[in-house]
Amino acid sequence: MKIMVVGGGGREHAIIKNLRKSPKAEVIYALPGNGGIASDAECADIRATDIEAVVDFARAKAIDYAVVAPDDPLAMGCVDALNEAGIRAFGPDKKAAEIEASKIFSKNLMKKYGIPTAGYEVFGESGAALEYLKTSPVPVVIKADGLALGKGVVIAETREEAAEAVRSMMEEKKFGDSGNRIVIEEFLTGPEVSVLSFTDGKTLVPMVSSMDHKRALDGDRGLNTGGMGAVAPNPYYTEEIAERCMKEIFLPTIEAMKAEGRVFKGCLYFGLMLTEEGPKVIEYNCRFGDPETQVVLPLLESDLLEVMEAVTDGRLSETEVKFADKCACCVVLASGGYPGSYEKGCEITMGQMDSNVEVFVAGASLQDEMLKTSGGRVMGVTAVADTLAEAIDSAYRNVKKIEFEKVHYRTDIGKRALEAERK
Ligand code: AMP
Ligand code: GLY
Repeated sequence: MKIMVVGGGGREHAIIKNLRKSPKAEVIYALPGNGGIASDAECADIRATDIEAVVDFARAKAIDYAVVAPDDPLAMGCVDALNEAGIRAFGPDKKAAEIEASKIFSKNLMKKYGIPTAGYEVFGESGAALEYLKTSPVPVVIKADGLALGKGVVIAETREEAAEAVRSMMEEKKFGDSGNRIVIEEFLTGPEVSVLSFTDGKTLVPMVSSMDHKRALDGDRGLNTGGMGAVAPNPYYTEEIAERCMKEIFLPTIEAMKAEGRVFKGCLYFGLMLTEEGPKVIEYNCRFGDPETQVVLPLLESDLLEVMEAVTDGRLSETEVKFADKCACCVVLASGGYPGSYEKGCEITMGQMDSNVEVFVAGASLQDEMLKTSGGRVMGVTAVADTLAEAIDSAYRNVKKIEFEKVHYRTDIGKRALEAERK
């Protein structure tokens, strides 16, 4: 089969490395891919959001199966466009991708169908939002309705901070039209768990749970990033909680989407908070999470291509999805300064990685056959081992074999998970 993966980050590299293991995969193209992905796929210089060019490429190369990984092309209807051109594709259509593309849509969906989530109010103009904030409890959470590169959420400790966030989103248009409407949400506390799942709209199979590390610095300090590392499984996510989530959240969500005429097919990501009242949904993503995918897919024992095709064809219930009874830890190496401004074009050198380790490249390009940094998050180093402690040790041993100027990584990925495991 000729396969095409739309996207070009660490998540896409993890998907591609996994798809390559399938005996059915003959050629894999990445659009646009990156300098590291180029060792595992043929990269074509086409932006993921240039839907027309993506479809033209698929037609020209007679692609048999496409995987659309990032949120933007999914929200823009990339899967719809590919299907119209007669190309089978993994990922939700535009109507189903709304579950991530509009926070207001997803909050209203959860309210209508009784799916546990934080209490909230929706505002379409800043005056009413600012008025509401005068009496709301703090901390309070302000969310832009639309996609905002993962930056559209502000946890405000004071009413002044909250008002500032409302003004910057609604009046100064910090996130463009994404902030035309906002959600003001109750602040919840508890451990966070990411659960990615495969669903064909009828059957839902959760993948192994994971834990993201969003802050830039050790001890969960510093700015929010796209994710500085992850571990899987997440020790907070016990079997009992998993059962509850299936009954109270996962299945009700796919049923709700079906009832709304928005059957969801693809990877549905549940960002959960385990509160004292039980698990609640913090966010849905309509796609594989990053860096979570970099710890989840290395644990997948089944053939990813088979599973993806089963999702697309609506026969997931007949397909085995098996994960190894092991642990994975991914440490992200970033350019110094990220998520603020950082240098690009630094030469990357890499020693020989251990056999239980995979490197997923996110932000590097090939220049004169040298791999050079080209993004904030440069690469993820994932180690798989029998225990979480071993996976963490192994990931860090291998991280030390990679060098580039001003490299920055957290030294405590998995630390909280280890502590939770020991409780
Ligand atoms: P999101 O972009 O929706 O994933 O939000 C980013 C992060 O903000 C989440 O991972 C949580 O840590 C935090 N967050 C979002 N909503 C809430 C909430 N209602 N209460 C507490 N923390 C939240
Ligand atoms: N790691 C969170 C996300 O992919 O949005």
